Amino acid sequence: MQVIPAISELRQRLRGETSISFVPTMGNLHGGHLDLVRIARKHGKCVVVSIFVNSLQFGVNEDFGKYPRTLQADCEKLEQCGVDVVFTPTELELYPQPQLVTVEPPLENDLCGAFRPGHFRGVATVVLKLFNIVQPHTAVFGRKDCQQLYAVRQMVSQLNLPVEIIGGDTVREPDGLALSSRNQYLSTDERTRAVFLYQTLAGMRQAVLDGTKDFVALERQAVQELTARGWQVDYVAVRARNSLTLPQSGESDLVILAAARLGQTRLIDNLEVCI
Ligand code: PAJ
Repeated sequence: MQVIPAISELRQRLRGETSISFVPTMGNLHGGHLDLVRIARKHGKCVVVSIFVNSLQFGVNEDFGKYPRTLQADCEKLEQCGVDVVFTPTELELYPQPQLVTVEPPLENDLCGAFRPGHFRGVATVVLKLFNIVQPHTAVFGRKDCQQLYAVRQMVSQLNLPVEIIGGDTVREPDGLALSSRNQYLSTDERTRAVFLYQTLAGMRQAVLDGTKDFVALERQAVQELTARGWQVDYVAVRARNSLTLPQSGESDLVILAAARLGQTRLIDNLEVCI
């Protein structure tokens, strides 16, 4: 496995590769990331993983400074997974000048975008830069970040990027909590309570499967339950799975998304439901 921080060297290494499968990450790798790597291996002969904590997608009061950076441990995990190349650019390598050219994906101001202004612009911009640098044939993203996956798919489709996007299922702890680098911010007590976000979504999914049609009432009840248990809720939303827009009546392919804070830690999760 080669660890390459420079764009020029990476381009040289990847020249002539006919089947590159790519997994972009911000590092601090867990089982969810490694599952995406395993999916990538099935889709390409050369697996490239990037590790870059992207300042452009963090708001001013967010956790960019304290985001866990664990490069050595990450590389050991990736080596065991049979990754070919790890791209580890510095801030200066990727953003040598202020990034004036950016990409604004749809729903930039909806769902998580409403609470994290500029976040999806930062994500789409860095992902486009990484695609241009790595030039992968396939790229794998987690369904855990449902709106991010949607933004990337829209960018690829609308800008005619020659890359196939693959979604990987959410990997969870045994109690149901979705794996996330941010879970380690949770205190022991918060960690025990964190599973309630998943349980709330699972309860909503069951209600939808049981025939509930009043999604607004369902969302309101979920917000009340989370708030009563000490969460600060950004949103709970039932949306059409393919467009993330409000479901039309009779829509059968749905996704239930939520973002909420427990103490200082903001967690997101979603569950797909087909009725
Ligand atoms: P990061 O949070 O490191 O996540 C990297 C990839 O891992 C994303 O595609 C994310 O959806 C996926 N992932 C995270 N938790 C997961 C889980 N529990 N199960 C399955 N997949 C999971 O997402 C980012 O980085 C950044 O926004 C990035 C796309 C790299 C752009 O900077």
